[in-house]
Amino acid sequence: MSNPAGHLPVLLESISDLLGPPPGGTVLDLTAGRGGHAEALARAAGAGGRIMLCDLDAGNLAFAEARVRNVAGAEVRSMHGSFANVDRAMLAAGWAADRILADLGFASSQMDDPSRGFSFQNDGALDMRLDLSRGETAADLLARMSESALADAIFQLGEDPFARRIARTIVERRSRAPFRTTHELAIAVSAAYGPKARESRMHPATRTFMALRIMVNDELGALRSLLEAFRATASNFPSTTWLNPKARMGVISFHSLEDRLVKHAFVEWETAGLGKRLTRKPVEATDAELRANPRARSAKLRVFEFASEIGAVR
Ligand SMILES: C[S@@+](CC[C@H](N)C(=O)[O-])C[C@H]1O[C@@H](n2cnc3c(N)ncnc32)[C@H](O)[C@@H]1O
Repeated sequence: MSNPAGHLPVLLESISDLLGPPPGGTVLDLTAGRGGHAEALARAAGAGGRIMLCDLDAGNLAFAEARVRNVAGAEVRSMHGSFANVDRAMLAAGWAADRILADLGFASSQMDDPSRGFSFQNDGALDMRLDLSRGETAADLLARMSESALADAIFQLGEDPFARRIARTIVERRSRAPFRTTHELAIAVSAAYGPKARESRMHPATRTFMALRIMVNDELGALRSLLEAFRATASNFPSTTWLNPKARMGVISFHSLEDRLVKHAFVEWETAGLGKRLTRKPVEATDAELRANPRARSAKLRVFEFASEIGAVR
């Protein structure tokens, strides 16, 4: 298999260039996934380096940890849970980060596993939780949300122009029997599209599935909390404990709403004297990468460098 890890890390060259740690440096990978980025950053940190891995998905976290441990030299620790709480793990370890990466969303390994319910291509239970140990599933949400809330979410998070029709069809269909599988939902969404389904470039269910996944995992809420946590921590330079002065933070987003949150946060941080943006425009995949990994299509990387103390930006 060309991709035994089940996921190809996106924008790997740019991540290495912009977020490669100094020798012996400390890396905080907030979304370890299958460990592709973390492995490259661990190699750069080398002997004496430290890598903190975090992921909501215990299976991915264990896979990434095993992979990064194989890289000689670096000390590895991990935290299962949301990246919004990563300060606790850093404080417990007594580590301060030099490089931070958040590669948002989900890994191909999760998408390709029918039992996780992320894909309408494979039939499986409508779960969609990144963290299988807690929270409501997509089936739970579909059973309890009102028609108008569903329509708003499919429109705002999925940007689907047929959101109202889809929500109405879902509510009609669930009055007969609750949704249990990905195929049941995909069939209902296609029915809502009607003859327009044939004109659609992508599968009609694509956007509804994306909206549900974002809701199930509160992905925008988690990103907001993460950005607030870093802002609060950087505001305490030079007495901050788990973030080193001059630390760099990179965020790869795949959704325009996420990218907008990151862009606005980085501009606001710069204005507040917390550091400077290293990317004015987001870094995107080259044509060569897109040929090898079409999933990189919507990836946008923004990088921020924190100051050594507040106001000491340049
Ligand atoms: C795109 S993948 C990361 C891939 C990784 N960079 C690699 O090279 O293999 C995103 C990962 O982030 C995790 N994730 C998403 N939201 C999270 C959150 N709020 N806290 C922690 N992990 C999260 C997902 O479970 C998934 O494993």
